[in-house]
Amino acid sequence: MKASVTAEREVQDPSLAVAASNVPRYTSYPPANHFQPGIGAKLAETFLAAIERSKQASLYLHIPYCDRLCWFCGCHTKQTLSYAPIQTYIETLCEELRLLRNRLTRKPPLSRIHLGGGSPSLLRPAELAALKQAIDATFTFEPGCEISIEIDPSDVGSATIPSLTTFGMNRASIGVQDFDPQVQKAINRIQSYEVTRHVVEDLRRNGVNKINIDILYGLPHQDIARLLSTVEKVLSLKPERIALFGYAHVPWVKPHQRLIPEASLPGPEDRVTHARISATAIRDAGYVQIGIDHFSLPGDGLAMAARNGKLRRNFQGYTDDQSDVLIGLGASALSTFPGGYLQNHVATGRYSAQIKSGMLAHDRGFALNDDDRLRSWVIERLMCDFAFRRDDLVNAFGADALGLWNEACALAQGELAKIVSVEHGSFSIPAGSRHLARHVASHFDAYLSSNAFKYSKAV
Ligand SMILES: C[S@@+](CC[C@H](N)C(=O)[O-])C[C@H]1O[C@@H](n2cnc3c(N)ncnc32)[C@H](O)[C@@H]1O
Ligand code: SF4
Repeated sequence: MKASVTAEREVQDPSLAVAASNVPRYTSYPPANHFQPGIGAKLAETFLAAIERSKQASLYLHIPYCDRLCWFCGCHTKQTLSYAPIQTYIETLCEELRLLRNRLTRKPPLSRIHLGGGSPSLLRPAELAALKQAIDATFTFEPGCEISIEIDPSDVGSATIPSLTTFGMNRASIGVQDFDPQVQKAINRIQSYEVTRHVVEDLRRNGVNKINIDILYGLPHQDIARLLSTVEKVLSLKPERIALFGYAHVPWVKPHQRLIPEASLPGPEDRVTHARISATAIRDAGYVQIGIDHFSLPGDGLAMAARNGKLRRNFQGYTDDQSDVLIGLGASALSTFPGGYLQNHVATGRYSAQIKSGMLAHDRGFALNDDDRLRSWVIERLMCDFAFRRDDLVNAFGADALGLWNEACALAQGELAKIVSVEHGSFSIPAGSRHLARHVASHFDAYLSSNAFKYSKAV
């Protein structure tokens, strides 16, 4: 029997059973596995018009290549030891930008550009310059436009950071995961503290002071001492933001995760303890906890957005970006519009063939109805603020939304009685239950039971 299944059966504490349950991460509602294949191109006809109307948009560019394959990885990426496929892919991405440009009558203003992957830190100056030129030809830039790039420290040579800053990078997101040698061996990701520190220093020397670092709990062979040692090392680098993600072990989606023996993974009880103790150490160092898995220094934009009720959640996770349009380009990239969602073909070959034939590469899509919008709002507020107010719900959606409020009150008296409360017109998840926010949100998900898809653990 699989270790995690055994662990789930052995959980006696009801809140641990909840933590061990499999639920979506809610970076969108409904989650992307509910998008319907084949309808993307049709939906794009109406959705793309929203780009024309929007005051500002965000751009996400997906680079699905790495020069290593970490066994824990859940991203859409593949390993390549040759640069040629990356060069060809960037030509296709520039062509996709040109196809989009042909559909627009003006250059929309961008508030954010994010290069994610995969490892965009593999891009060389010529490809970065071509991409920048294609973006400049399609969009204008809002003052203070944030340009963030995901960096695998093992890619970084002496020319890497200067070429990324020439592209315009003003925020860097660095993957650490765990510094312990035994954990690193078990996830096939060797990365020393010294190499990581050198990258952070190089970034700051080149004027990039906004630095995010990712840590994972729930990895093989992790114990609290190892995790806290990683947390301390990350804290010593003084990043502006830290993401503390729970490792999503989904070998039915990512078969390479089978290289991680399930018996080496911490069980549900350890995951909850590891998440809680690491979060306390990060908070004690002066960081503000943001949502379920982020931390930032108090003066950072995320902390300010959280204080002002302006925190948002999109496909990249928590953001202070207020754009209602997120344009995703590249294989598998996801887009958000007021009317719904689109996803490009996931397979790089299929995506590239479509672009080369002169058509945008939208495959899957979802058109939101009124009930979806209501539930999407409630789930986003729960994931961001751990609460929502009856009056705000009614202000946003009118008296029809009272049905959902009554549903929330019934949950607070029934199934969720031990982990939520309703007081003074506010439905909230108290501090002690906030790690269960995904589970609470799932009770507002009208599609959850209709889908056989298996998600990752709630904590
Ligand atoms: C695209 S990767 C980061 C950039 C770069 N490729 C690197 O590895 O340093 C984005 C982040 O996703 C997170 N991630 C990847 N696979 C995950 C999984 N299975 N569960 C949870 N988080 C995961 C990791 O923390 C990782 O740093
Ligand atoms: S964690 Fe980063 S470097 Fe490792 S395979 Fe995933 S995207 Fe590539």
